[in-house]
Amino acid sequence: METLKSLLIDQSTSSLIQTSLVALIGVVLLVKLVQRLRLKLPPGPIAWPIVGNWLQFKEGLNPQNLAELAKHYGDVCLLQMGQRKVLVVSSPEMAKEVLQTQGVEFGSRARNLVFDMTTGKGSDMVFADYGEHWRKMRRIATIPFFTNKVVQQSRHGWEEEIELALSDIKEMPGCTTSGVIPKDRLQLMMYNIVYRMMFSRRFSGLDDPLYGQLMTLNLENNRLAQSFKYNYGDYVPSFKPFLRSYLKEVWDTNQRRLNFLRDAFLNARKKQTGEKIGVDFFLDAHLKGEISERSVLYLIQNMNVAAIETTLWSTEWGIAELINNQHIQEKLRNELDEVLGKGVPITEPDVAKLPYLQAMVKEILRMHMVIPMLVPHMNLQAVKLGKYDIPAGCRILVNAWGIANNPEYWEKPDVFNPDRFIKNKIEPNGSDFRFIPFGSGRRSCPGSIIAVPILGLVLGRLVQRFELLPPVGVDKVELRSVGGQLGLVLAVKSRVVLKPRNV
Ligand code: HEM
Repeated sequence: METLKSLLIDQSTSSLIQTSLVALIGVVLLVKLVQRLRLKLPPGPIAWPIVGNWLQFKEGLNPQNLAELAKHYGDVCLLQMGQRKVLVVSSPEMAKEVLQTQGVEFGSRARNLVFDMTTGKGSDMVFADYGEHWRKMRRIATIPFFTNKVVQQSRHGWEEEIELALSDIKEMPGCTTSGVIPKDRLQLMMYNIVYRMMFSRRFSGLDDPLYGQLMTLNLENNRLAQSFKYNYGDYVPSFKPFLRSYLKEVWDTNQRRLNFLRDAFLNARKKQTGEKIGVDFFLDAHLKGEISERSVLYLIQNMNVAAIETTLWSTEWGIAELINNQHIQEKLRNELDEVLGKGVPITEPDVAKLPYLQAMVKEILRMHMVIPMLVPHMNLQAVKLGKYDIPAGCRILVNAWGIANNPEYWEKPDVFNPDRFIKNKIEPNGSDFRFIPFGSGRRSCPGSIIAVPILGLVLGRLVQRFELLPPVGVDKVELRSVGGQLGLVLAVKSRVVLKPRNV
């Protein structure tokens, strides 16, 4: 009897617990629903449980598919990639709001597992949250890299490196007949430009063993950082354990690169004397206790990644467009000959006198934006954007390529036509939100002050010295692009015939 009684009490207790649990879950769901209904979230495709919209974007989020998305959902659209909210911004008005008007609110960076590892959770500059540390890093890097004075001090070195690269390319077998692939030599040129500015060092050639080691480490790091693998851990954190070997590889490779940069370059520089350049300013800041030595290494790593490949990829796109548009190449050459005189190599101060060259560079940056969705921003707090509520921690993708190639803002955007920038004096300095290849506002690219003249110098000198032609039997070089998580790159290295001009 006693047993039956206690059984009944047990049963009623457990059903009470069950009912309370169900009620509790119901209340939680109701609260969430009410919160959701009270929030006015941006529109977006219906998200599936757990995976969200991920399956709709299996190949990754790229500027083309995001431009399509904007046609359906408008200029502010919310995606749910697994558990990660991604906000896509697709109009000049909304880009201005995110990058400028509410630049503080949207001024942090969306990192992920990989970038947390490679940047010490944002102890660098590029992936730092908006705040004191980022401001300090940006100030420290500005003095030795991002001023007009630095451009004037460094430009002779740039011109020298460009000249050496073109002379080497001229000597490559097949240069005037079957064609050559200049990319590797131009890459060395960019490394030399940047390493001279950072360490007053240059590599003697493609076979310099130090260069070989650096390239191997950088290639490996780039491959891992552009991989789509980490999305699994980023979008669905419970998948993280399955990425253990990939993440270990990321960690090991990054440690090797940081150690290499420290031993082969930073420590070697400490022993040198003479005029202060590049990293000396970073080291001074470290000695004053402003930043750790680790942050010095992260800054060096930032320069490595942000400066070299971006400018190289843009140069490659430029060469491909010059080959495919012979009339534009001729027009550019005529401008150079008329303004500077035949056989007078262009120098940095000349760029300002050459409107067509400037227009050509802008058109490359418009049509082939190498960081097409900018470096993802993030809002640390919940904010309003236009009429929408944006939850905290969204990854913000500003589709800068989509805006700069949208027929609503540009006439025949898919035609490569530098003349559009002659008629319309739009600058890539972030003041016109139809054209923001370097972003705009607080987190915009500080390196544009270097990249724009270098692009003008390389393309200008190429056209002055050579006729750039497609290989025999080929009409046009292929312009297909491949995208990683951040960059948009020419899929196939262009082969080019370079006929020296008799000037
Ligand atoms: C054609 C060449 C280049 C292009 C297209 C480019 C583009 C960009 C873009 C789109 C951003 C992100 C802007 C944003 O998120 O709002 C950026 C950031 C950055 N770029 Fe560049 N860049 C180029 C060259 C350079 C060079 C030469 C340097 C250095 C010497 C450099 C250093 C940086 C740094 C440090 C940042 C991060 C800024 C921050 O987070 O505060 N870039 N770049």
